[in-house]
Amino acid sequence: MNFPEYYESRKKLIESFLIKQMQKKGISRVDEAMSYSLLAGGKRLRPLLVLATGDVVCGRGYDFLAVACGLEMIHTYSLIHDDLPVMDNDDYRRGRLTNHKVYGDALALLAGDGLLTLAFEVMLEQKNVAPAALIETVKEVAMCSGSYGMVGGQALDIEAEGKNITEKDLRTVYSAKTGALFIAAVRAGARLSGAKDEELLALTRFAELFGLGFQISDDIMDVEGNLDEMGKNAGSDAKLQKTTFVTLCTLEGAKELVDKTFSEALMCLESFGSDAEPLRELTLMVKNRKF
Ligand code: IPE
Ligand code: IPE
Ligand code: MG
Ligand code: MG
Ligand code: MG
Repeated sequence: MNFPEYYESRKKLIESFLIKQMQKKGISRVDEAMSYSLLAGGKRLRPLLVLATGDVVCGRGYDFLAVACGLEMIHTYSLIHDDLPVMDNDDYRRGRLTNHKVYGDALALLAGDGLLTLAFEVMLEQKNVAPAALIETVKEVAMCSGSYGMVGGQALDIEAEGKNITEKDLRTVYSAKTGALFIAAVRAGARLSGAKDEELLALTRFAELFGLGFQISDDIMDVEGNLDEMGKNAGSDAKLQKTTFVTLCTLEGAKELVDKTFSEALMCLESFGSDAEPLRELTLMVKNRKF
């Protein structure tokens, strides 16, 4: 299977799984608000990373769909909250109006809470894996999502608004707000596949670099991109006076750092041979993306 076929087939598996999960109806309109953002067609990078990393280690990454899609729910919740007026106050996401613009702030808040909670229900339904590996994985997803990881990073990000922070501090913010969920995704795919310690170590380093490269390129697109291509407005960082890699290193400097960071990420996969080909291709696709 070539990479475009691999990518399409895995994305289809993820989309169908998510649609199926959202067919279970609850008791209120919050389900509609959850589906509105979850089924709006994001890039699905975190679940794709779970599957592609699973393929590196054991060749059956498609078996880990429940954990993979749980991560996508957590990521989508983080986007709904990130866009709220009290955070980045953005109007568009995934090519549509942001959740709060359609459902109001209170229901958007609850849609985020609902997705976060549903994620854990769904991940714990994961079949075909060793129970101990699943428990360890879900615990790690929780830690990477919460105040040690994404939530903590978002808090640091908000605190840094309007201030000039150092590159070292910015790296700390990025490794938490963005890196942690990528690390959780890659380590989930690896651990559920029964990766050896040295494999887990190399893949974790890969994920750290992937996350950093990803967020720097997000900063660049916030300057150079547009609503049509990205499905969200550019200019959000400048509006909020954020320190980014663009403000610290200029556009050119930030682009060089993206190349360097993704190249280093790819080096971490060298020992894995041809089984890592989909993960390498996915990394290149993300490095060259326009959205
Ligand atoms: C956007 O993530 C939020 C950041 C961490 C920068 P994505 O660019 O992966 O968003 P979707 O899932 O494709 O919408
Ligand atoms: C958000 O970073 C990271 C999250 C945890 C959601 P950004 O605020 O830069 O993400 P975008 O640019 O709005 O997608
Ligand atoms: Mg933000
Ligand atoms: Mg934002
Ligand atoms: Mg951004």
